[in-house]
Amino acid sequence: MLTSGPISSLPKPLSLIAEVTHRCPLHCLYCSNPLELKRAEEELSTADWKRVFEQAASLGILHLHLTGGEPLARKDLAELIDTAHRAGLYVNMITSGVGLTRERLGELVEAGLEHLQLSFQDLDETTANHIAGTRAHALKLALVPVLKEFPLAFTVNLVVHRMNLDRLESFIGLAEELGPDRLEIAHVQYYGWALKNRSLLMPTQEQVDRSLPVIEAAKERLRGKIHLDSVFPDYFGSFPKACVGGWGRQMMLIDPTGQALPCHSAAIIPGLRFDKVQDHDLAWIWESSAAFQRFRGDSWMPETCLACPRKEKDFGGCRCQAFLLTGDAQAIDPVCRYSPDHHLLTELRLPSNDVLPIWRG
Ligand code: FES
Repeated sequence: MLTSGPISSLPKPLSLIAEVTHRCPLHCLYCSNPLELKRAEEELSTADWKRVFEQAASLGILHLHLTGGEPLARKDLAELIDTAHRAGLYVNMITSGVGLTRERLGELVEAGLEHLQLSFQDLDETTANHIAGTRAHALKLALVPVLKEFPLAFTVNLVVHRMNLDRLESFIGLAEELGPDRLEIAHVQYYGWALKNRSLLMPTQEQVDRSLPVIEAAKERLRGKIHLDSVFPDYFGSFPKACVGGWGRQMMLIDPTGQALPCHSAAIIPGLRFDKVQDHDLAWIWESSAAFQRFRGDSWMPETCLACPRKEKDFGGCRCQAFLLTGDAQAIDPVCRYSPDHHLLTELRLPSNDVLPIWRG
């Protein structure tokens, strides 16, 4: 199905996202995990994950992102990290930090953990705990000095939305005090539980407009000290993001049960069948799994996208978003100003009130 041109040749994937479990002590309002979480009894075995990591390295993958749920819920985490590190993967863990002791962190670093990402839900403890659905904020703050004792690259991720965007300057100030190597300001992306809570979380246009100079000023102030990345809120854009770097171009995601997905939300798209790492190796899945081929290249694109030079930059945007907003995964991503459905987003930018939160179970 691949067509000719720069986006048609099959590159090697760069990253493997390993959702090693869906178990999590947090119940964040904006969790992007599927609404149907996988149960602990369904999770891949230690041997399965170790085989997957070795295959990933052989395939040329460089980065392993251990996530979930909460990766710390896996008792075999140090063993998994050890295998991945020995295979040559750069190992990052995305964690809430809840329950992470100095002793266990030492084991994980000893095994080969090289990078850790900690997200903060707000600078105000009450609001942060409200969003996380549990008392996690103080535990995260207490973990930071412990992290500093280890040779570990450290990213602070600030998740922003309607409830905290007006406090962004102070929120960035909190992050600065924590002294990360890297700071990421990420707007909530509306998939999974975040989509359910979209009316509660989506900022207004005015909030977004006010936040942009704050981010620019922080970039200037932190230059040479902390690397700051910010992700523009998709729903407020005129052109789509290159979601996951393009479908089947840069990354593979393995869910807790061993299904291989081209992105974290792909399971919502009707008609896609996901091959399992228990049945095929990663190289086969990358090259031949129908789900990875479905939106790879440009042969699936509507005419407007095919004719657009931006297809080399955004690879057609986000297929899951197109499906969630229009009911058609093959439609032009409605973020694009040339989409006939773009008005759906401009209408959503209006403020809405009196909505109740729905927490991840
Ligand atoms: Fe699936 Fe964007 S989240 S393509």
